[in-house]
Amino acid sequence: MNASIALLPGDGIGPEVVAWGRQALEAVGHRFGHEFGFAEGIIGGGAIDATGAALPAATLDLCRRSDAVLLGAVGGPKWDDPRAPVRPEQGLLGLRQGLQVFANLRPVRVHPQLVHGSSIKAEVLEGVDLVVVRELTGGIYFGRPSRQWPASGRQGRRVVDTLRYSEAEIERILRFGFELARSRRGLLTSVDKANILESSRLWRQIAQELAPQYSDVRLEHLLVDACAMHLIRRPASFDVIVTENLFGDILTDEAAMLAGSMGMLPSASLGAAASATGSRPGLYEPIHGSAPDIAGQDRANPLATILTTALLLRYSLGLEEEAAAVEAAVDAVLAAGYRTPDIAEEGTRTVGTREMGEAVVERLQDPSSARQEEARVAVRARP
Ligand code: IPM
Ligand code: MG
Repeated sequence: MNASIALLPGDGIGPEVVAWGRQALEAVGHRFGHEFGFAEGIIGGGAIDATGAALPAATLDLCRRSDAVLLGAVGGPKWDDPRAPVRPEQGLLGLRQGLQVFANLRPVRVHPQLVHGSSIKAEVLEGVDLVVVRELTGGIYFGRPSRQWPASGRQGRRVVDTLRYSEAEIERILRFGFELARSRRGLLTSVDKANILESSRLWRQIAQELAPQYSDVRLEHLLVDACAMHLIRRPASFDVIVTENLFGDILTDEAAMLAGSMGMLPSASLGAAASATGSRPGLYEPIHGSAPDIAGQDRANPLATILTTALLLRYSLGLEEEAAAVEAAVDAVLAAGYRTPDIAEEGTRTVGTREMGEAVVERLQDPSSARQEEARVAVRARP
């Protein structure tokens, strides 16, 4: 197949990890006989420096023309001034909304090899396999007004953010959650704050109204604070969690710790399928940020981005076998004992971004020859 992929490396460690995402895709193209074309665009802090805008129009155009978008991360201390008129994150939000990728899938799988490196007990992690479906283009991230007023009188400065949702927005994300749960283990946990927020009460009501259409799915409701607790108490009991934008942002950083590191979690953001072509926009990013403290030091974990390319292959290009091959290659390097510093533990081999990336790409190119290498590394890795 031929596919055009837009690459938006962004800031901090973004360029390092996206480079390995690209190499993984190239290796897949080579092995399975696909022609992937790549074009780079600028976004975030780098784009602000170059053009004054966090999401230049040319970047959004490029993404709209491409079959899928792979993004690294945006932001950094250089652009962090709270009074700055433009912020790198606006580029990301503009892109999500510009592409209308309303459904953000964040699968959390615990690699058995990383169980002992997690800060959570091994027995709690056994069997964890969940997906958070985060609403990505609405809610408090986008509500207007959102502004600050200068101080006047004794109250000092004042500020407002707006949490706004329409029924149509809530319904489409909940349907996405129901469909996904139906294709998995059939449990949908809808997370809200219905004891406080009106938006959550409508959310819960719509979930209940839709439930009879998905009688094969068991729907449960959980308040977001309780969900935060149960995620580390009984994570294996979740299947699909569906929630609004801000709750999903917070819960997925927490869930990342089940997998051992933010450096392990991929994400896919999908829009609605066009009725004419059936194709739908897809934006793919690791859930981690730009990690400016380790940028350019060959320390970043490229696995989240490499696993993100598996989601790109699966959801935007429909290449399931290729996606599985990427995931298998990652499993193989972990089994062989390769660890970047964020997932390092005793008895394993700590490597940099490059060596980790190379190890995965090697296994993607030639899974059989890599097996012999595995045995060698495993021996070397013994303490
Ligand atoms: C994420 C990130 C972003 C978000 C930031 C960088 C704007 O934290 O993708 O989870 O809040 O959505
Ligand atoms: Mg986040």
